[in-house]
Amino acid sequence: MLIDTHAHLTDKAYNKDLEDCLKRAAEAGVAAVINVGFNLSNARKAVALAGAYPNLYATAGIHPHDAAGTARGYLEDLRRLAAHPRVVALGEMGLDFYRNLSPPPVQEGVFREQLRLAREVGLPVVIHDRDDHRRILDILTEEGVGERGGVMHCFSGDLPLARECMKLGLYISIAGPVTYSKASDLKEVAAACPRDRLLLETDCPYLTPHPFRGKRNEPAHVALVCRQVAELRGETPEEVARTTAENAVRLFGLDLPL
Ligand code: NI
Repeated sequence: MLIDTHAHLTDKAYNKDLEDCLKRAAEAGVAAVINVGFNLSNARKAVALAGAYPNLYATAGIHPHDAAGTARGYLEDLRRLAAHPRVVALGEMGLDFYRNLSPPPVQEGVFREQLRLAREVGLPVVIHDRDDHRRILDILTEEGVGERGGVMHCFSGDLPLARECMKLGLYISIAGPVTYSKASDLKEVAAACPRDRLLLETDCPYLTPHPFRGKRNEPAHVALVCRQVAELRGETPEEVARTTAENAVRLFGLDLPL
């Protein structure tokens, strides 16, 4: 049993064949998919999708790219979405200084407000970290991660960074890049991460694992991520699937039988 803890099935890339994607995911052993919202309207779509399919869940949050375009009062909207029974986390939230689509101070402000809201409503957080690991860690340390913890989604740092994140109460989520030949830091993290802190994801439609790199990604491919992680850890894919699924159920409080 696998859980894809970070997907964007609300993307138009799935307009034509969502049902087929879900069928392929089920055939690959994917028991649940968490669709991650990146702004208010997208989070509402993710919630609607979670209402339509029993094995889909949703999160609600403002991605750093969308921080500048978010209307005042967005926290009230997020709070309302957070109360929905199928919303299992807040996020994705964080910093993205690679593309800088929102000014850094705005990204930081919206990130901090969401961290506080997550603590207030008692939900875990999904963190997006691109290109400024130090700044992310500083903010997480200053604000603190709530009791429910959270996840560094599509982890892209090295092992020392992973250890600092785990100390803050975060899980480490591994995506398709672990299958790329040059990802030596990520392979090291996947091999050494304590088994009770590890999650798997696709971040589909992006980051398609080898050998399908360049094509659209989909939840069924989380099995390829699992196989690579298992090989790196010297465990069977079944063991990695089971422990990462248990971790996802625990972190997100999923109502799934294990
Ligand atoms: Ni994402």
